[in-house]
Amino acid sequence: MEKIVSLCKRRGFIFQSSEIYGGLNGLWDYGPLGVELKRNLKNYWWRVMVHERDDVVGLDGSILMNRAVWKASGHEDTFSDPMVDCRSCKARLRADQLIDKGKGRQCPNCGGKDLTDPRAFNLMFKTYVGATEDESSVTYLRPETAQAIFVQFKNVLEVSRKKLPFGIAQIGKAFRNEINPRNFTFRSREFEQMELEYFCRAEEGMKLLEYWKEERLKFYENIGIARDKLHLLTVPDEERAFYSKGTYDIEYDFPFGRQELEGVAYRTDYDLSQHQKASGKSLEYFDEETKQKFIPHVVEPSAGVDRTVLALICEAYSEDQAPDEKGKMETRLVLRFHPRIAPIKCAVFPLLKNKEQLVAKAKEIVDLLRPQMFVFYDESGAIGRRYRRQDEIGTPFGLTVDFETLGEKDASLRDTVTLRERDSMKQERVAIKDLANILVSRIA
Ligand code: GAP
Repeated sequence: MEKIVSLCKRRGFIFQSSEIYGGLNGLWDYGPLGVELKRNLKNYWWRVMVHERDDVVGLDGSILMNRAVWKASGHEDTFSDPMVDCRSCKARLRADQLIDKGKGRQCPNCGGKDLTDPRAFNLMFKTYVGATEDESSVTYLRPETAQAIFVQFKNVLEVSRKKLPFGIAQIGKAFRNEINPRNFTFRSREFEQMELEYFCRAEEGMKLLEYWKEERLKFYENIGIARDKLHLLTVPDEERAFYSKGTYDIEYDFPFGRQELEGVAYRTDYDLSQHQKASGKSLEYFDEETKQKFIPHVVEPSAGVDRTVLALICEAYSEDQAPDEKGKMETRLVLRFHPRIAPIKCAVFPLLKNKEQLVAKAKEIVDLLRPQMFVFYDESGAIGRRYRRQDEIGTPFGLTVDFETLGEKDASLRDTVTLRERDSMKQERVAIKDLANILVSRIA
């Protein structure tokens, strides 16, 4: 994990937030490459969950909402973790992080046994809306995006004219004042979620839970996460929310252990019922065929953007052996991102930077490809070094403009370039006019 954290900083994927002031625990900034990776992930999620379906529409809700939302959803009273203080080293700990080697509970930091009893610590960040800071102006930064979907259910239903089953999708920030943020970005205090609330009839709930579990597993495979690193945990009855009739956790084998990426939960009609009761506004669905009114049930696949980005980086990280400029084998660091997720899709290199015609041709290719994908131009250093720099950040394709491109050696090779594939390092000769089509089909 140390190698991954260091690469993330060195190559501009992830930085500590407020680093020059000593940072702030549990908060992270995404650098130039991290932001591209994150954006590609979110765009792909949106594509398969919204654009490629007839039964899902989107929403972008506000982060601050009326406090009544959090009372009705149960978050104000119960969204807490049991917290314990170690009186010896003064650490604040989540009760489930204590170690127990058969001789009673111990602090994981100092081994001390002088611990307070667990007490509930609410994870929501409290804030005040407006100029007065009193009870009447209290609200919270949202700890999940889902509640905006529930409280806008009726509005979205009316404008979209969807029939059950249908879903509302949202990607956005969520905030939790985690007692112990840890494992790099895995448990952060500010993070993003990609959530779908898929509304249905009660009798469809269990079947749709199975359907969405399968869809979501496919999603992870389609972004390049190996199936054998993904695991499905059926959350046992005693650990499920009381209103849930079934929950799966999709887990990934991180270097620090097997951990949750996403929860897929059948939440019954709990959320809409709570908001209907608390607001006094009907959140019922009218079935035109049966002329019945009822509160829909919901199945919720809820994924973490940051956790998935971290899994993508862990999955992509690899070291292999490759020849250097002189043919001597050296260790090559490669991020083997799936091309659709890779931050930069293609790097373009003129063989020599002091050869005007090569540079001009390479820049022409950059202009040709730019409308279709994120392209990077690099003319500095030996070509082998330039390939290595791109391997290290996971760029799947490299294009070299050489003297053959200019037709100097063989007229039949005029306006062709070398296309190099990152993982196999294989090179092929491709006509410039075919480049856009070839690359677009490989990164789709
Ligand atoms: N609406 C349901 C919900 O929020 P959750 O299991 O608490 O369920 C869903 O969160 C996902 O959000 C998790 O599977 C995880 O990927 C992500 N997540 C939750 N807490 C997180 C944290 N502190 N840091 C990073 N991601 C987090």
